[in-house]
Amino acid sequence: MAPYILAIDQGTTSTRSILFRPDLSVAAVGQQEFPQHFPDSGWVEHEPEDIWRTTVETMKVALAKGAAEARDIAAIGITNQRETALIWDRKSGKAIHRAIVWQDRRTADLCARLKEAGHEAMVSAKTGLLLDPYFSGTKIAWLLDNVPGARAKAEAGELAFGTIDAFLLWRLTGGKVHATDATNAARTLLYDIHRGQWDNELCRLLNVPKSLLPEVRDSSGDFGATDAQLLGAAIPIKGIAGDQQAATVGQACFLPGMMKSTYGTGCFALLNTGTSPVTSKNRLLTTIAYQLNGKRTYALEGAIFVAGAAVQWLRDGLKIIDAAHRTGDLAAAADQNQQVYLIPAFVGLGAPYWRPEARGAMFGLTRATGPAEFARAALEAVCYQTRDLLEAMQGDWGDKKSTILRVDGGMVASDWTMQFLADILDAPVDRPKVLETTAVGAAYLAGLAQGLCPAPEEFAKGWKLERRFAPKMPAEIRDEKYAGWKDAMRKLLS
Ligand code: G3P
Repeated sequence: MAPYILAIDQGTTSTRSILFRPDLSVAAVGQQEFPQHFPDSGWVEHEPEDIWRTTVETMKVALAKGAAEARDIAAIGITNQRETALIWDRKSGKAIHRAIVWQDRRTADLCARLKEAGHEAMVSAKTGLLLDPYFSGTKIAWLLDNVPGARAKAEAGELAFGTIDAFLLWRLTGGKVHATDATNAARTLLYDIHRGQWDNELCRLLNVPKSLLPEVRDSSGDFGATDAQLLGAAIPIKGIAGDQQAATVGQACFLPGMMKSTYGTGCFALLNTGTSPVTSKNRLLTTIAYQLNGKRTYALEGAIFVAGAAVQWLRDGLKIIDAAHRTGDLAAAADQNQQVYLIPAFVGLGAPYWRPEARGAMFGLTRATGPAEFARAALEAVCYQTRDLLEAMQGDWGDKKSTILRVDGGMVASDWTMQFLADILDAPVDRPKVLETTAVGAAYLAGLAQGLCPAPEEFAKGWKLERRFAPKMPAEIRDEKYAGWKDAMRKLLS
């Protein structure tokens, strides 16, 4: 039997395991959602055992569906929701607290204090990030300060920190490997992305003992092997990358200037800037896109916290749609004469605004506003926010004419949304044939290290366009709509 590659995609709302053939076509998928915990306003937590259980169960489902056994799998690649932080006991392997999710805002005050004390410039210069509760560093500090006994144990070297990839790696290897990759390390606020190492000054600032931190490795390479007891045979783990970086790889954005945007729970646009990091003048992030053979490739990133989550809100909160995929049709039926704006700042605003304390708002409601206008406002909001990001990126990187956006994620199935996106960006939007780009990226990184997949240039030739959405909205309508969005944003933030 041909050797398979298994990708584990541990996301914010569900865990997926995808069995790939060596040509990176999908053989079988296992998927499970898991509970979200909201213990306080702006707090979001995941139960680590749910994450582990759904990982193991979905791996078994994917194997069973693909009629494969552990010995048929040549390599595993892990990709994950980024920034989500957890700490576990090295001896028992048990987490000391639920994982604090990337969306969680509990450390907003700590970030504000650090900013007021003038630390942001130093943090930004080293990490490419900003002082925002989004990143792992202040979450680690919160765990050490709020879980009884945690700090003393951490100082005694008894605890380990990890983003989700490192936690899964630890569990999969039976506690043998405590490591992460450069893309995940780059999201912690503790990692110097220029020197490629954990930084003493940052660790001191956030009061995080270095003994907690995992070893940082290439995104494609050796991460040990699964405990043979788990699936019946030891499987080499050969790739790790944060999900947005894995999608960048899966979209074959290997050349400087290439850009992808993934529409999942949130929306994350990454622009490959090559081997030199670009410092943003427009409040974007500088991050590591991938690290191969010790060589870092950098990206500019714009992060929007709510994209698909706004559609979930329409479905589960407002109950005005029964299935997410119906949103596009409903939006298409909205009254053209109404211009309703939704700013879905449910967990604050990310790039380029960075306002953790902001909350959502709607503008332009009339007595005639109904579900269709709500649906259109939710989808349009995602597109307006993407334009905010692109404008910031163009300010940092250069000319708009060359902008082509490769898109992926659940929301891009909607033709209506993709057309509106192209219209509002005034740039082509390319939807690939394969939409599993995050998992493909993780499988590719693992397959590359295992000698099953070709070098990036060759892999890039396999990227296939399904449809290009070309802008066709008249300029004056586009300008009027976007000006309305900016105006709504100004009102919210004033
Ligand atoms: O930075 C957060 C991001 O990695 C989450 O991705 O796909 O789980 O929404 P997703």
